[in-house]
Amino acid sequence: MDQLPTGNTIEKAVLLAGRAPSLHNSQPWRWDFDGEALRLFAVPERMLSATDASGRQMLISCGIALDHLRVALAASGWHTFVARFPDPNHRDHLATLTLQPATTVTDGDRQRADAIVTRRTDRLPFTEPTNWPDFESILRTTFDPADAFLDVLGDDSRPALARASEMTASLRRYDPGYHAELQWWTGHTIARSGVPGEALTSPEEQQRVAVGRRFPTAESTPRRRGITADHSVILVLSTDTDTPDDLVRCGEVLSTVLLECTLAGFATCTLTHLTEIPRSRAVVRELTEHSRLPQVLIRVGMAPDTANDPPPTPRRPLADILSTHTRNAR
Ligand SMILES: Cc1cc2nc3c(=O)[nH]c(=O)nc-3n(C[C@H](O)[C@H](O)[C@H](O)COP(=O)(O)O)c2cc1C
Repeated sequence: MDQLPTGNTIEKAVLLAGRAPSLHNSQPWRWDFDGEALRLFAVPERMLSATDASGRQMLISCGIALDHLRVALAASGWHTFVARFPDPNHRDHLATLTLQPATTVTDGDRQRADAIVTRRTDRLPFTEPTNWPDFESILRTTFDPADAFLDVLGDDSRPALARASEMTASLRRYDPGYHAELQWWTGHTIARSGVPGEALTSPEEQQRVAVGRRFPTAESTPRRRGITADHSVILVLSTDTDTPDDLVRCGEVLSTVLLECTLAGFATCTLTHLTEIPRSRAVVRELTEHSRLPQVLIRVGMAPDTANDPPPTPRRPLADILSTHTRNAR
């Protein structure tokens, strides 16, 4: 029989994959290991139905966790084969992974897994990323453009994005469901989920990032005062359709982009408020100058003084996200 991973290998990898970012740190995934195959499921009860009405971001978040898992396993010497949506009668079953010992583990494999731990969402302003053109050409080799299409928006897009951000906030001003979710999921954590207050910004800091989501603000001594306005590069990932398969794949590419940026020493912030409302999504689509569907935007830049970074955001414990059993017991 082919060599199989131990339960311990799977536990470590699932724990690391659990560091994946997700909308408001909702962590809408769970894993099941039967001793041979590892299965990934979406957890619709953890979907934010007012913010993410169609569940697009839930699937994107699960796609990130899927790619993080593969990165974690590659670093511990396992090659993964993925069957996406293997059960047409159970659409929450997103993927089944089977594993084979890898012939080698490269430094790159290990560094990517390390980047899972160091990556974080940074909502403060950035300075321009250094040597962006060189990095962009490397980045484009790290994923399949059939899975998600990457655009780099020019600096001249910034005013339109800032206006679209403002419009999004205005359109949502009287949306009680959206605000109830924002209050529930941000500013504190409940059961090791949600965006803690330390990860949020003050009103003054929020003003310096005109394209950001309007989160509840948190008081703090002013940070990065020298960066009076955000000078990040803004990326957009788009797909041809909003089908679950496209969304999970987009999440996998988002994982790659975030980890590659982290490896290059760049700070990142994923943004989706601009793709949640059709009118702002249309603005982003126009800026990309093609007809694909924008899914996420990512600010990428340099973040000085990371010494004062807040602690990592919490994650649900392993027992809540992984069930393990033998095949016969199923
Ligand atoms: C699909 C998705 C959408 C997100 N949307 C936003 C957003 O609009 N604004 C923002 O500041 N962060 C956004 N985030 C970042 C999450 O809030 C963040 O990943 C989560 O709080 C966990 O924190 P960490 O990334 O620092 O580990 C998003 C992340 C994902 C995966």
